[in-house]
Amino acid sequence: MTVREILKMGDPRLLRVAQPVTAFDSDELHLLITDMLDTMRAASGAGLAAPQIGVDLQLVIFGSNARNPRYPDRPVVPPTVLINPVLTPLGDEQESDWEGCLSVPGLRGVVPRWSRLHYSGYDQYGDPFERTVDGFHARVVQHECDHLIGKLYPMRMQDFTQFGYTDVLFPGIAADEDD
Ligand code: NI
Repeated sequence: MTVREILKMGDPRLLRVAQPVTAFDSDELHLLITDMLDTMRAASGAGLAAPQIGVDLQLVIFGSNARNPRYPDRPVVPPTVLINPVLTPLGDEQESDWEGCLSVPGLRGVVPRWSRLHYSGYDQYGDPFERTVDGFHARVVQHECDHLIGKLYPMRMQDFTQFGYTDVLFPGIAADEDD
């Protein structure tokens, strides 16, 4: 088990456009994903993108269950490894909700996202898959895939009156459960 350092906003490596993965089902790729899972779980995160640990590849992992202390009331999102993703919004509808990011510790902000979208990509074995999702699942995918084009959620915000420190905005959430 290797918990890797998560880069924080201000690190220029978070601003790169990531490179596509070209070699699947390799020891190197499986090790990277294991490290990302360990790192995400150690931080109680709902998702993690490879650029957040300084790896310049189009690879994100995400998933949440009811036991995640950071998102106790959020719907379940299946554990997913998504490589070389392509996102397609369905319709014009957007919705705004609170987001946090392991690269922006201690803060939360309200971010508009597409309500419904279709996404496709590959798993770690190189097998293609696709899903049509909405709500929190759609939000998580958009947040994580934004990391692959150098976007952090504050760059998507439109109302900075809804941006602040988690322990001030949501006093019930323990500090170690939020970052
Ligand atoms: Ni993030």
